[in-house]
Amino acid sequence: MLNQLLGDFENEYLKKINNYLKNNLKKDVDQETLYESMKYSLMAGGKRLRPLLTLATMQTLGKEISNDSLRAACALELLHTYSLIHDDLPAMDNDDLRRGIPTNHIKFGSGIATLAGDGLLSLSFQWITDNDLPDNKKAKLVFLLSKASGPSGMVAGQSSDIEFENTKLDLSSLKKLHRGKTGALINYAVVAGSIMADADESLQKLLSNYADDYGLAFQIYDDILDVVSTSDSLGKPVHQDSIKNTYPNLIGLANSYKELANVLNHSREILKIINKKYEINTDLLESFLTYFKISK
Ligand code: IPE
Ligand code: IPE
Ligand code: MG
Ligand code: MG
Ligand code: MG
Repeated sequence: MLNQLLGDFENEYLKKINNYLKNNLKKDVDQETLYESMKYSLMAGGKRLRPLLTLATMQTLGKEISNDSLRAACALELLHTYSLIHDDLPAMDNDDLRRGIPTNHIKFGSGIATLAGDGLLSLSFQWITDNDLPDNKKAKLVFLLSKASGPSGMVAGQSSDIEFENTKLDLSSLKKLHRGKTGALINYAVVAGSIMADADESLQKLLSNYADDYGLAFQIYDDILDVVSTSDSLGKPVHQDSIKNTYPNLIGLANSYKELANVLNHSREILKIINKKYEINTDLLESFLTYFKISK
């Protein structure tokens, strides 16, 4: 049932997100090679999890999804795609496959790939502000996305990821790393939805807690998939994480599944609290948890 709910939501909004990205990127990029390179990675597929979470949060809170909020939600996908392009660079994870096709630097070279990432990062903030949302909301979104994506969030996590290659971190440091490199943007996705939907501070906080769990679970699962999945099904290389700090490397595969299950249970508890306290139907947000397939 929850599966179906997520499927229906994706059916409705995946197309809207993809069309928005496809139809609007060109308007803001003059340089032809830069445009081709940005479009190459942006339109290569991808689950669109982050904008979907923003829109699902808004729907959960009963807020109509306007074109302006769709633009702000899609802005996060621009920024996420930048993070993937840079993550794959030879100087970082040095991967050659992403979203089922050769990585940006394999296709365009490291110089253009770096700039395509830079372009997507800046354009993300342009889209968050170049719309008709109220100014106070725009300012909040810019502040929170700067924090989530920059040296207080994703970039800090990515720095630790690289700095501590070949050095074993303890579990609490690994958790912090994961909350930075992956959790921060996922947290922003949900909080941005709650801001655009006018949620009060205490509801925003609860939704932010749910998103923190979701983000940590997402990176634990990504670590697990590197071990148990195939490159064909993921569209990116597998068995790449031997020098990395990951859950399976630190506590083993079976315990990684257990940790994942614990985090998911915790996120369900938070949704129950939201449901009780605010009389909000949280099934749609719970349905996003069906992404994680736990076996073993
Ligand atoms: C991959 O993110 C990078 C991580 C944070 C683990 P996604 O798994 O959301 O990648 P796409 O967007 O679907 O390609
Ligand atoms: C990357 O983590 C998180 C980002 C900020 C892009 P990974 O390096 O594990 O992501 P994948 O496995 O390459 O997608
Ligand atoms: Mg990486
Ligand atoms: Mg990587
Ligand atoms: Mg990974």
